[in-house]
Amino acid sequence: MAFLQSLSKRLVLRIAACVLALSVISTVVLMARPNLRKRKIAISRPAVNYPPFHNPEHLHHPNPHFKAAYVTMTKGDAGSLANLRLTIRQLEDSVNHQRHYPYIIFSNEPLSTEFKTLARSLSSGDMAFYDKLDSTYYGYSPSTNLTKAAEARERMNGSVLFGESEDYRFASRFMAGTIFRHPALQELDYYWRFETGTEYMCPLAFDPFQYMYDHGKKLSFSIALYEYGDTIPTLFETIMGFAARHPDWVQSTASKNSIWPFVLDDKKTFNMCHFWSNFQIADLSFFRSEAYQAYFDYLDNSNGFFYERWGDPIVLSMAAVLFLEKEQVHFWDDIGYRVAGYFTHCPADYKQCSCRPHENFDNDGYSCLSKFQ
Ligand SMILES: *[C@@H]1O[C@H](CO)[C@@H](O)[C@H](O)[C@H]1NC(C)=O
Ligand SMILES: *[C@@H]1O[C@H](CO)[C@@H](O)[C@H](O)[C@H]1NC(C)=O
Repeated sequence: MAFLQSLSKRLVLRIAACVLALSVISTVVLMARPNLRKRKIAISRPAVNYPPFHNPEHLHHPNPHFKAAYVTMTKGDAGSLANLRLTIRQLEDSVNHQRHYPYIIFSNEPLSTEFKTLARSLSSGDMAFYDKLDSTYYGYSPSTNLTKAAEARERMNGSVLFGESEDYRFASRFMAGTIFRHPALQELDYYWRFETGTEYMCPLAFDPFQYMYDHGKKLSFSIALYEYGDTIPTLFETIMGFAARHPDWVQSTASKNSIWPFVLDDKKTFNMCHFWSNFQIADLSFFRSEAYQAYFDYLDNSNGFFYERWGDPIVLSMAAVLFLEKEQVHFWDDIGYRVAGYFTHCPADYKQCSCRPHENFDNDGYSCLSKFQ
């Protein structure tokens, strides 16, 4: 009994930690940090003047076969800038210093000249910023009943992590759908989605974009885990409603090549397993496809992003389950990656990586990687 209690306590802690680290969340957490300036040490620092920053007219795409870029969404505060720079530094050291792919940085807030200059200074490729995203991209669906959305935030306040957050929901809807309609992504074949503050811990002797291209991969991930059920009470039935309307687009659960076994226990019970999307390399033609766009519109019209608290990782993952074959989804065994200082994938060949194999989240009871393999 005591064992069970401690086990369930542990599980609850895990779930909490996990939701904490969910995409676009580090920024929210950062904003809650105690304000260090409240300490009574007066340090006066002279302002640094940076020349005005302009996006390049066209991004330079170094690979002759396809156009690809690193893409993220950030807040505009100093903590987010520090986290963004940490991750860019690691992406550069790990792989991009030899490849020079460009970066595209989104924000719903205005980004300062300092912010843009200090982020750009680290990158060996071009960098373009799209800040102050308008409500078409970062906002409610045209179909949202705002009263109902406010009621949901109130209802989930305290009982579901970020259940009260409007911002979390806007970010989730953006990353699951409206981002793929943004003009900045239309010319891209691939994106490498990253999150500020995440770590890339190994030097890579290969180009992951090239790997996606050479092997016809559509989607990729390095951490798989269970979603928190209270955030998605009706997601699965909504998705099944969509699938019933579009049987021609949807993989049969009986197909040997499908990913259905990843999310269905005993061939029928939805287990809420999903690919984490805070590191995700994807073929953007998948997200621009008629099927994905119809899927997003269907979910968006159901308003589960707002009347519940659907996260983009499980929405994106379920699209892979519906539309892709298993060979089109890639697990990055060879990329060392860490989220929120805890969730770690440390490669089997760890010798050049700053992680410890012992830290591997894949061996954790809360990982569901084994259901994919
Ligand atoms: C919006 O939701 C509220 C609360 O659930 C409801 O009372 C109202 O009738 C809804 N409005 C519309 C136009 O459906
Ligand atoms: C959530 O609860 C806190 C504390 O009761 C309250 O201050 C806050 O306004 C609530 N937020 C929402 C969105 O209901």
